[in-house]
Amino acid sequence: MTSRPLLTVVLAAGKGTRMKSALPKVLHRVGGLSLLGHVLRTVGALGASRTAVVIAPQMDDVRAEVAKRLPSAEVFVQEQQLGTAHAVLSARPAIVGHQGDVLVAFGDTPLILPETLQSLLDCLNDDTPVAVLGFEAADPTGYGRLLQDADGNVVAIREHKDATEAERAVTFCCSGVMAFRGPRLLELLDAIGTNNAQREYYLTDAVAIARSKGYRVAAISCPEEEVLGVNSRNQLAEAEAVFQRRFREKVMAEGATLVAPETVWFSYDTVVGRDVMIEPNVFFGPGVTIEDEVIIHANCHFEGACLRRGAEIGPFARLRPGADIGPKSKIGNFVEVKNVVVEEGAKANHLSYLGDGRVGAGANIGAGTIFCNYDGFFKHKTEIGPGAFVGSNTALVAPVTVGAGAYIGSGSVITKNVPADALALERNEQTVREGWAAKFRAMMQRRKAGKH
Ligand code: UD1
Ligand code: MG
Repeated sequence: MTSRPLLTVVLAAGKGTRMKSALPKVLHRVGGLSLLGHVLRTVGALGASRTAVVIAPQMDDVRAEVAKRLPSAEVFVQEQQLGTAHAVLSARPAIVGHQGDVLVAFGDTPLILPETLQSLLDCLNDDTPVAVLGFEAADPTGYGRLLQDADGNVVAIREHKDATEAERAVTFCCSGVMAFRGPRLLELLDAIGTNNAQREYYLTDAVAIARSKGYRVAAISCPEEEVLGVNSRNQLAEAEAVFQRRFREKVMAEGATLVAPETVWFSYDTVVGRDVMIEPNVFFGPGVTIEDEVIIHANCHFEGACLRRGAEIGPFARLRPGADIGPKSKIGNFVEVKNVVVEEGAKANHLSYLGDGRVGAGANIGAGTIFCNYDGFFKHKTEIGPGAFVGSNTALVAPVTVGAGAYIGSGSVITKNVPADALALERNEQTVREGWAAKFRAMMQRRKAGKH
């Protein structure tokens, strides 16, 4: 563990043209969080005392994402994309005078683990001011190669376009992530030129320059999947797959049962308790907390919801932001809940929309109940008291309150408040005509047979 202050420089000025998108590449999402958001979280987990993010001009939405995810980070604009060393130098004001370590990471590489970055930083010492994170590439095409001498010391990084055939045979590749001792960094960066195939300032040239100045360069290796960079929609899907696999493994290791893990999709911030049971085909958007002993049946969709201890949801339920489902409550099939607190033991088992309001403890919401929360201009609240019984196919026209223990007759359209323990019924009285159906049938059968 290093105790030196850490500056992390996150490079995110690349346009990401291969994404074919109006959105800057680093704002595309994996597990519900932007690629850049993942990197900033990882950096946060490292305890970076200072973070600099390098963006291109007109990337205001990237700037806003930085402000949202890591407000303390400083943003620097790289006016022209002249290479990774040039990008790091765009953050020169943050580097000048920084006495600790500097870590350079890419904003499009979301899967790297904090412990890997820590191991890289741990390689630095007074004789070794540069450390490179490498990996064994299944297909090294396109990557910089880590060239080693006979003793295994890293002596240079050769970019693919500049490499000889022999160098291209090397499979130990540069991830792009590098660590430096701060007081040495500018001396190395300022010596980097553009004498290469792409006429770019390569950060990776810092290795050969450090060697020429008599310094040592350390290299460590990590699994290739950790340094998967996202350049295309295909790689975005690959990154998503890795993220989901890791998350499912974590959730199961912490005591949840996933019947078919490969069909459950988590968000970066999903909180899953112990003895939670999740059936197949369930999707979690951001902001979901699942307390212990919750059961989620198949085919549910969640975002911004809290499921309290022992609640039972689905199959085919949709919980939207602000759905707070109380302990041992039940939300059944084809029920949508948005911005409603459902208190302990309440039930809405079939075919309902509950939007904006509260359902008191132990209340029963009958099949087909609708909270009519929207008048086309404003949203209004529906309050159902504890122990109330709402009959099937009830429309509750908000704002409206149903008192504790009240009954609503099926099929009612409730527009006025209902006092506690009252019965509210809003429908025409039923008429019954004895024998009518039999007579009607006989008449119609004669007509069909052509006899009038
Ligand atoms: C880089 C490494 C290469 C490594 C590979 C791993 C260099 C010279 N090469 O190559 O050794 O194998 O990553 O994926 O570093 N960026 C800027 N401004 C720039 C140029 C790049 O911010 O002017 C950012 C990009 O947004 C990206 C990152 O730096 O996040 C890497 O740039 P990229 O062009 O993808 O570098 P590679 O050629 O892939
Ligand atoms: Mg790249």
